[in-house]
Amino acid sequence: MTETSAQEQTASNPPAPVNVEVDNSYENDSSYGDELSSYSTSLTSSVLDYRHENGRRYHKYRDGSYLLPNDESENDRLDIFHELCLTLLHQKLYLAPIKKPQRVIDLATGTGIWAIDFADRHPEAEVIGCDLSPTQSTLVPPNVKFLVDDITSDWAYESNPFDFIHARYLACSIKDYGKLIKECYRSVKPGGWVEFQDWDVYPQSEDGSINGTGLERYYKEINSAFEDAGYEVRPGVKLEQWFRDAGFVNIRAEKFVIPYGVWPKDEHLKKVGAWNQAQAEANGFEAGALAVLTRFKNWTKDEVTILASQARADGRNRKIHMLHHFYVVYGQRPEN
Ligand SMILES: C[S@@+](CC[C@H](N)C(=O)[O-])C[C@H]1O[C@@H](n2cnc3c(N)ncnc32)[C@H](O)[C@@H]1O
Repeated sequence: MTETSAQEQTASNPPAPVNVEVDNSYENDSSYGDELSSYSTSLTSSVLDYRHENGRRYHKYRDGSYLLPNDESENDRLDIFHELCLTLLHQKLYLAPIKKPQRVIDLATGTGIWAIDFADRHPEAEVIGCDLSPTQSTLVPPNVKFLVDDITSDWAYESNPFDFIHARYLACSIKDYGKLIKECYRSVKPGGWVEFQDWDVYPQSEDGSINGTGLERYYKEINSAFEDAGYEVRPGVKLEQWFRDAGFVNIRAEKFVIPYGVWPKDEHLKKVGAWNQAQAEANGFEAGALAVLTRFKNWTKDEVTILASQARADGRNRKIHMLHHFYVVYGQRPEN
């Protein structure tokens, strides 16, 4: 996550040995403060800028690398997804056996809701949330800080490592999870823990009731579009192996079922399914499909709208019993 200077000297144009003249004109000039603020505004605006497309808003920093929106509607959906995870894990934010962590980072934090909850529950910890989008709340506990950063770039945390690194729901966001998990290994303290919680976006139905439905078509189209564009859509299934490859020990992988809708009999699964339907109904089907299908597969916005509304309609049919698998995997960096 290091930023390199954009203006590097080339060999054919070596720096001349000049004394850089100082602009002292500001001393009698009351406008210098404005110049400073306009300079910092232009620096931050590249990060705060957004891309608007097909009625949705997207990140601009590292433009194009993440294909879901970052607008209000999407932020509402992510906050509903957080409730889904809390319900699934019986109000736990993580499953790793961490003890009094001092330094914690939430990778690709989204709205920052996990980081804020974690900071509230662990006032002794300093919590960082980082993301491509600066869309997090400003009303946060004093022990949380948000950074705009690209987690697929090289990190600069080795000299100040973390006790706990957390990442959730990066399916369809990341191309090289193996590299990312190795970066986590390098940036967590010996004895510290890393936890990833993620989907297998391939849909399932134990009774075959998804076959031939709008839901089946929706996931077939978006999963193949994300895969063709190089993104990982089944990270949940592969996390345990990536943790092993990176050198973690005491690895534990837990697999969960997330139904879609209130069709399960079991009260807990019914609640989880209701939250899942709620997040998808918050424009979730459109959010997942719009950029990947229009940018990479030449679909029109209207075609995506029809695909998404057929998926949403079939999702309301209690005779269709779709579910996804979700995985929580954690591991420890060896003590020595
Ligand atoms: C589906 S959201 C999940 C957000 C959050 N982790 C949660 O569980 O609510 C994926 C997030 O990953 C962020 N993201 C995608 N690629 C990223 C990258 N290379 N670096 C930092 N953040 C990234 C997106 O901006 C988005 O906020």
